[in-house]
Amino acid sequence: MNKLYDNVFEFTHPLIQHKITILRDKHTGTNEFRSVVEELGMLMGYEALADLPLEDIEIETPIEHCKSPVLSGRKLAIVPILRAGLGMVPGILALTPSAKVGHIGMYRDEDTHEPHEYFCKLPKPIDQRTIVVTDPMLATGGSAVDAVDMIKQKGGKKIKFICIIAAPEGIEKFHTAHPDVELYIGHVDRELNANAYICPGLGDAGDRIFGTK
Ligand code: PRP
Ligand code: URA
Repeated sequence: MNKLYDNVFEFTHPLIQHKITILRDKHTGTNEFRSVVEELGMLMGYEALADLPLEDIEIETPIEHCKSPVLSGRKLAIVPILRAGLGMVPGILALTPSAKVGHIGMYRDEDTHEPHEYFCKLPKPIDQRTIVVTDPMLATGGSAVDAVDMIKQKGGKKIKFICIIAAPEGIEKFHTAHPDVELYIGHVDRELNANAYICPGLGDAGDRIFGTK
């Protein structure tokens, strides 16, 4: 992993890079796109959760008694930003089946590119959970910044944000607004175009996951 700033990491793992190329290809259909987004959720979630605390418990193997570690401490919440963030959730839930799932509804105005919130429901007690926010795309960073603002307003404290592709502009904006939040990025792309789409990017992630276009 490349450390870009304190708390900002870009993945270098070849499996992650390979799968991102599949997503970029405009010939990749909805079915494959959706499965690869899910797989990336798992691969990136696995790394992002590498600091989960452990505690030893006593168990009995078929051979003898022993102490062995289990996850301890804070409980998890996975919070996708609707819609596209939903695509990464099954991959992370496969790793942490007892996590609770919140939702933040956010859409970008097509003309101004400003984010608008339309839904927010988080599992309680949110202040005592490690929160993993998912969204495949960090473009201007507006949606991500507002989503994390909202989680903090509701009491969220330990927050990690996982995205598949990010633009430099969005990373800067997010890290300035939320330097305490760990940001995990599959790949940093070149720039935003005039429509605030990421270049080369992968197009509209929500439309490609759900087949709406
Ligand atoms: C996309 C994407 C992010 C946002 C990124 O969602 O999934 O949420 O845009 O852009 P930003 O960094 O400039 O805010 P969109 O608003 O298209 O909604 P959708 O997921 O419902 O398609
Ligand atoms: N949202 C997307 O889905 N793709 C982009 O490139 C930018 C915002």
